[in-house]
Amino acid sequence: MARNFHKSPFDEGTRVKLAMFGDYTRAWLPVFLSQARPSEPITVADLFAGPGEDSDGVPGSPLIVLEELRQSGDLIGQKRARVRLFLKEASKSKAASLNAMMESQSIPTGLCSWKVQNDEFEDAFASIRPELNAGPNLLILDQQGMKEITDDVFKKILDLPRTDFLFFIASSSIRRFESHPYFQKHLKIPKGAITGATFNDTHRAVTQYYRELATSSGEQYFLGSFSIKKGSNIYGLIFGSHHPLGLEKFLRICWRADPDRGEANYDIDDDHLDSRAPRLFREMDQPRKLTLFHQNLRSKILSGDLNTDRSVYLDTLEEGFLPADGKAVLKELIKSGQVRVVGGQPRVSMQGYGAPRNLEVVTDGAI
Ligand SMILES: C[S@@+](CC[C@H](N)C(=O)[O-])C[C@H]1O[C@@H](n2cnc3c(N)ncnc32)[C@H](O)[C@@H]1O
Repeated sequence: MARNFHKSPFDEGTRVKLAMFGDYTRAWLPVFLSQARPSEPITVADLFAGPGEDSDGVPGSPLIVLEELRQSGDLIGQKRARVRLFLKEASKSKAASLNAMMESQSIPTGLCSWKVQNDEFEDAFASIRPELNAGPNLLILDQQGMKEITDDVFKKILDLPRTDFLFFIASSSIRRFESHPYFQKHLKIPKGAITGATFNDTHRAVTQYYRELATSSGEQYFLGSFSIKKGSNIYGLIFGSHHPLGLEKFLRICWRADPDRGEANYDIDDDHLDSRAPRLFREMDQPRKLTLFHQNLRSKILSGDLNTDRSVYLDTLEEGFLPADGKAVLKELIKSGQVRVVGGQPRVSMQGYGAPRNLEVVTDGAI
């Protein structure tokens, strides 16, 4: 049964998730507002919108998005951007309280149009799909549990042009019910794909499942993820974008939330790092994930697998690291004379993505 947020406060994991929805909306809006045209609506769709706030009056996702729109109000006005906020919620009473909450917000008509509808996700998604071809979209899919973003729905989301999405999923429930026929009907996760991973890695394994779905068409798609532990369960966010800049922005938010690994609200790799008690070797005081990333990136460059600054940028993002991390590895290889860049300095960034420079591995020791 749907939980009524009016009766209980958001827990810590929920707050982490909601903060990331807000942070990503804040990072996403200016990209599209700066190039906005009145003929192209900019849409944020929150399809599991909830009642508006928790029992302590802490704002839920619709009010968080609205606040971000208000913060960008000047730019929206300057650009005469047409911003739309679609809010859908399956529970009649929650939709009614959300509608009342939105009405009480005195939202200027020039800021955005908004609509609350009492709709089940399946109908809500089907009805807004045709609306999402006209301009850039951000989908916030804060489902309860794990069954709404089926293989079929996921593929339809990937097909939407200029659409970034963030969805929440109860990953450890998939682990628990992996081979149950009911869930197999929705998500065709191969047996063992989730249970074969460690418990800490549950959401990583779920993300990997969606990653394989996303890349099965051969199209390039950028996915990111963040694991969230709540009590003895693991949940998580999955982010997707057609554009690497979307993933870069999402990863910056993840690294702010988790400065050690950029990936979870807990010690996902059991590194047990303690800056107050340094160990013998520097590597022992850094997350294993970082050590491994450095090693792998170095060998991918030296083997010629990655032979442009663009490919280093993309690999860095796909491994869940920030451009500066990839650039540090590349610079070290250049400094030690093992690699040179043709035509200037390496740019492990959107600049290198747009106009790549070749990397040459120096085999004879001469530069
Ligand atoms: C995790 S809560 C999301 C809360 C909201 N994002 C917020 O910040 O308050 C999930 C919401 O989805 C609603 N819901 C559950 N199943 C749904 C469905 N099939 N379609 C649409 N909404 C659904 C629930 O009533 C609940 O309000």
